[in-house]
Amino acid sequence: MSEAKTYLVTNALPYANGPIHLGHMLEHIQSDIWVRFQRAVGNKVFYVCGDDCHGTPVMIKAHQLGITPEQMIEQTSKSHYEDLQGFLVHYDNYYRTHSKENEEISSEMYKKALEKGFIITKKISQLYDPEKQMFLPDRFVKGTCPRCGAKDQYGDNCEVCGATYEPTELKDAYSTVSGAKPELRESLHYFFDLPKAHDFLHSFIKDSGVIQKEMSNKLEEWFKAGLKPWDISRDAPYFGFKIPGTEDKFFYVWMDAPIGYLASLKNYCDTHAIDFAPFIDDKSDIEMCHFIGKDILYFHSLFWPATLMAADMKLPSHIFVHGYVTVNGAKMSKSKGTFIKANTYLKFLKPESLRYYFASKLSSQVIDVDLSLDDFMAKVNSDIVGKVVNLASRTAGFISKRFDGKLAKQAWNEEILSKIAVTKKAVYEGYSSRNYGDAVRAVMELADEANRYIDKEAPWVIAKEEGQEDKLQRVCTDGLNLFRALITFLSPILPEVAAHAAEFLNDDLKFQDVEKPLYDHAINRFKPLYSRIEKSQIDAMIEASKEDLKKAQAQNNQAQKQEFEPLADEITIDDFAKVDLRIGTIVKAEEVKEARKLLKLEVDIGFEKRQVFAGLKQAYGDVAKLVGRKVVLVANLKPRQMKFGLSSGMVTAAGPGNDKVFLLGVDDGAQNGDRVH
Ligand code: 2FM
Ligand code: ZN
Repeated sequence: MSEAKTYLVTNALPYANGPIHLGHMLEHIQSDIWVRFQRAVGNKVFYVCGDDCHGTPVMIKAHQLGITPEQMIEQTSKSHYEDLQGFLVHYDNYYRTHSKENEEISSEMYKKALEKGFIITKKISQLYDPEKQMFLPDRFVKGTCPRCGAKDQYGDNCEVCGATYEPTELKDAYSTVSGAKPELRESLHYFFDLPKAHDFLHSFIKDSGVIQKEMSNKLEEWFKAGLKPWDISRDAPYFGFKIPGTEDKFFYVWMDAPIGYLASLKNYCDTHAIDFAPFIDDKSDIEMCHFIGKDILYFHSLFWPATLMAADMKLPSHIFVHGYVTVNGAKMSKSKGTFIKANTYLKFLKPESLRYYFASKLSSQVIDVDLSLDDFMAKVNSDIVGKVVNLASRTAGFISKRFDGKLAKQAWNEEILSKIAVTKKAVYEGYSSRNYGDAVRAVMELADEANRYIDKEAPWVIAKEEGQEDKLQRVCTDGLNLFRALITFLSPILPEVAAHAAEFLNDDLKFQDVEKPLYDHAINRFKPLYSRIEKSQIDAMIEASKEDLKKAQAQNNQAQKQEFEPLADEITIDDFAKVDLRIGTIVKAEEVKEARKLLKLEVDIGFEKRQVFAGLKQAYGDVAKLVGRKVVLVANLKPRQMKFGLSSGMVTAAGPGNDKVFLLGVDDGAQNGDRVH
């Protein structure tokens, strides 16, 4: 065997503001299988992940929930970890990007890049929410599509006509955070000078073999289009790390996210007395492997290697890109119940069923994987239950009952056992190259042969024949040795089944021993290893996913309610009668020059005219339009002496303030001076 290698394996870090769903699970399962295989063949692997904690969406979600981002991370990261454990994805460390290790490494890398001239600054104009006093990422601005006129489209692209545009091109734009009309404001931003890293990146992508060919071809298009400086800063308020040397600039979430891989590893090393230095030393032969989805290719193959290079740190050895998950041939859909959360799946189905199904469809190509639910059920039932487990259940009973649990001293048919070596080669090849589908196919071919062999020899018939004890024991031993090989080969995919099979066979199920069958060896009693999937389990999971959607909507509504002002204390009708509301007409309206918000109004309430100062300037800039409007005035409010004059009453209006103030209307017929009851 070639010399053992050391790998650092990572999986994309899930965002801390949402649950893990089956789309995430494809990658976690893919990387976990690879790690288990590498370990099974004697390589050393450090396998880390964690939550991606920073950025505006996390900050806003926590705010909506009325908790701090730290509290939210605590909760989500715990549930993410539980989901992953539930799917038998066993990281050495599941950490978070909001950590001291990550802040330290990010700062160091930034300072190095700064020293080497990779950081530039320039002023940019960006949409700003004047109410929440924050700059708005494109996804937090909505408005009317400038191309097709569809309403409520995001700031970067229209979901109706597919157009992409700048958020400033939207018509009637509004902030999705507060509803306010965004303003364009300037701010100084920090950029990583990607064009300066052009030659390095080009040869890294083209010549190093780090990435699948189809992906490096895709990247070639980006090189042709030209690299642009990468904006790595965000203005306060932002949940993230402050950029060293600045007062109010924060690292953009994607700057410190991949550094989170190293932070998770560092935390593991520090708590396990392992030297971290070789993992970042560009001369060490540890191989850093990232499993990622095609949507985050740009970040991992351009930004990430560029920042590592600028910091003189070890570069990724492999970037393994995969496609998306579809369910029943379509994008996962919340309303169809096919947007399935990891923990919803686990309430109804076994983790290994999904691991097996995904594995059977995974290849090294960047193609989408369809979870066709009928096919899923059929495949798991036919392959795991019908072919693999069945092989043991058809032969184990005879060994226990007739031979006191002892396997024969030799095989009955050496030839069938010799096929294990052929399968082993295909399995090694399949796992190492991430063509798990090929590995699974090879295993199932062996399972078919093994079952045909047992069908042909029919131990249940031999068992009834006189003087055939030796043959019966040897045929069943062959069957169980074939079963042992099948389970060993499948152990990276089905670790729990393999653990139970190991107990039953009284064996370690080592890859290197698979060609040395067990003879004259005591086994334990066979217990059923897997149960069939019933259609009702799948239906229940879909129903529960629809319920999840309803719950999420209710929670959202609840979160939005929290944005409303709390209801005031209850009053009686007599209390209400104390407020004297009168119909009036604005007869004069003028701006108060020195005041940011105020207009000076004269309101005719039938029996007298009132001077009122009202905060309507931003919402009703065109004062002429106010003249002649009927309004509802709080007429018995104690007059208030203001800097600009006496205000005798209050004009009623709704809305959060600034440019979102809406005067109450009055239907035709009501007369000035009429009281509102
Ligand atoms: O796309 C995502 O879900 C990101 N949270 C992945 C981050 S991977 C790494 F860079 F942290
Ligand atoms: Zn459009």
